Amino acid sequence: MIVTIDGPASSGKTTVAKLLAKELGFLVLESGKFYRLFTYLLLKSEKEWRALLTDEERLKAFWKRILPELKIKVKKEGTAVYFRGELLEKELRLPEVEEAVSIVAKVEAVRKLVNSLLRELSKDKKLVAEGRDMGSVVFPEATLKIFLTADEKVRAERRAKDEGRPFEKVAENIKKRDKIDSTRKTAPLTIPEGAIVIDTTSLSPEEVLKVVIKELHKRGL
Ligand code: DC
Repeated sequence: MIVTIDGPASSGKTTVAKLLAKELGFLVLESGKFYRLFTYLLLKSEKEWRALLTDEERLKAFWKRILPELKIKVKKEGTAVYFRGELLEKELRLPEVEEAVSIVAKVEAVRKLVNSLLRELSKDKKLVAEGRDMGSVVFPEATLKIFLTADEKVRAERRAKDEGRPFEKVAENIKKRDKIDSTRKTAPLTIPEGAIVIDTTSLSPEEVLKVVIKELHKRGL
């Protein structure tokens, strides 16, 4: 059983996914972390990383080299990503990763590699999966699909506060990423068919959780 939560940057997906997973006893699949991981390792290991993005064979070879060194734990508290035994957290939120991740994530070959890993990890699990294309592309069979939105300024304020970064910089990055994520050819950010849309601008995470639980109850779950 899968509940998907999609939406633009900082709309509250991860927070709500974690609350919901706790409530239901499900695991949390944070798909954005996989794109951040791909981007982080690509930037770290390839000076000419942009050139690699246009070469599917080299991308595949890169991923094949990386995979044996990765360990992914899909847990109730979230998705933990380890590379060479080291837990990656702040590395995935570096400004250079924030800058490049949407450029990397719009490449179809990258999405194919990430999606096959996401599907493999999801097998036989009860999941809350959050991202941009969870309900539309990766898990179209999901039991419940949620799409979160929120005012752009409020989203930037939330992230700036969470990460202790300057509002202007965060706002600019969110705007840029949303534009690339929504206009890309492959799996653009979109409201999945049948999704419940929740505007979180003036709602607390707990209030959003209540709406989601109500929707689950409506479906007899
Ligand atoms: O949710 P996040 O901010 O961690 O996601 C980082 C980036 O990864 C986001 O700007 C676009 C990409 N992404 C994606 O293309 N598809 C997903 N399902 C999740 C994230």
